[in-house]
Amino acid sequence: MSAARRAKIAPSILSANFARIADEIRAVEGAGADWIHLDVMDGRFVPNITWGPKIVADLRPLSSLPFDCHLMIEDPERYVEDFRKAGADTITVHWEACRHAHRVVQRIKELGAKVGVSLNPATPVALLEDLVDDLDLILIMSVNPGFGGQRFIPRAMEKVRQAEALVEQRGLTVEIEVDGGIGAENAAEIVEAGASVLVMGSSIFGGGDPAAAVQRARRALGVVR
Ligand code: DX5
Ligand code: ZN
Repeated sequence: MSAARRAKIAPSILSANFARIADEIRAVEGAGADWIHLDVMDGRFVPNITWGPKIVADLRPLSSLPFDCHLMIEDPERYVEDFRKAGADTITVHWEACRHAHRVVQRIKELGAKVGVSLNPATPVALLEDLVDDLDLILIMSVNPGFGGQRFIPRAMEKVRQAEALVEQRGLTVEIEVDGGIGAENAAEIVEAGASVLVMGSSIFGGGDPAAAVQRARRALGVVR
């Protein structure tokens, strides 16, 4: 099985229309999306604000797919329990937002969620060397976090390779997720570099037909012909 065949597609509902969010989520699930990616922003760690645990809990019954919560918030330890109770399956925090990343990671594991750590474009992969054994997921940001619709930063490709090498060397099973500026045109290349989960926001929800966009991405990855 090729690397492309194993890759998961995680539509980011940041770019969805919340006036018809139930339809948007059903559309991507029906088209074969693997996870639902939920971007939580606090207006401090990133210059944008989205939603808290109440919205995640309200959305939870709309889908049976795993909820992949990407916390772009300062001091996320304060909120990880609330997001877990709201239905998050994976909780990813930013390395840059944690004073005690190791403790936050342990806390998320205690809560029974899968745990991810995300790196901003200027944060080196090597900083995960003392954390990777405890992780289920590494999230490489391929844009500066905060907004959908930005361009993929090419340097992220090398970081995906480095993350994959780190995981391989240790013989670990850790998802390598990439987030920002991804669409059908560059998806296969990113998977080739080592990504196992691709987050896609505007390329899926920006064009008016999210189901067709998921299908395009799946075709680009060779999941369907
Ligand atoms: C950005 C978010 C992303 C965002 C990606 O800070 O973390 O998940 O939705 O959007 P696109 O796919 O449009 O770059
Ligand atoms: Zn995200």
